[in-house]
Amino acid sequence: MQGRPVSFSRTTIVELMVPAYTNFGGKVHGGMLMSLMDKVAYACASKHAGNYCVTVSVDAVEFLAPVEVGEMVSMLASVNYVGSKSLVVGIKVIAEDIRSGVHRHTNTSYFTMVAKDPQGQTAIVPPLILESTDDVRRYCAALQRKRLRDHARSYMKDYRDNFVFDESIEQYLDKQRCSIDIKQ
Ligand SMILES: CC(C)(COP(=O)(O)OP(=O)(O)OC[C@H]1O[C@@H](n2cnc3c(N)ncnc32)[C@H](O)[C@@H]1OP(=O)(O)O)[C@@H](O)C(=O)NCCC(=O)NCCS
Repeated sequence: MQGRPVSFSRTTIVELMVPAYTNFGGKVHGGMLMSLMDKVAYACASKHAGNYCVTVSVDAVEFLAPVEVGEMVSMLASVNYVGSKSLVVGIKVIAEDIRSGVHRHTNTSYFTMVAKDPQGQTAIVPPLILESTDDVRRYCAALQRKRLRDHARSYMKDYRDNFVFDESIEQYLDKQRCSIDIKQ
């Protein structure tokens, strides 16, 4: 299968933050931004794959700064990594104050998407051609995140499988701001 360069599927969505997108604090709702990120990830991944893609997991959604109504938000997406049937789209979110022209980087997230063929079966995606040192850095970072996630997943599975509720738990939770009050 022939590879596709990162630039082939690089995608940007730009959207004005209107009052309908606000939460009770008057800032743009985090769920609204997540929905836009999912949309741009879908477009970027599907373009690279040549097939529609579904979202499987999202890494590291951290809202580092609030987004204000009236700001112009750009979602810059590119394929960072490809596996066999999955790919990772990195999304950088930039908010711009239209009047001052000041840009703020509000968050970066990584969406893992899986390609599906028209029959709904998972499909192989084309290899990725890295065209810059940034592309290489992002690819290597995605590999590292994948390794960390695999490690965390197996660690948490072991933890869940071996969890025992006994007197040591009270000690474990000693400095936590919780108390145990289990009704029979
Ligand atoms: C995504 C989905 C097709 C994977 O099914 P599956 O039977 O695990 O498929 P496969 O075993 O063939 O795995 C396909 C790829 O998905 C990856 N994958 C599966 N689960 C994953 C997870 N939790 N996190 C990251 N990658 C995952 C596998 O590593 C594999 O990648 P690779 O081919 O690049 O090595 C299936 O879980 C699904 O349909 N989920 C629902 C997706 C959806 O509807 N999203 C919208 C949410 S509303």
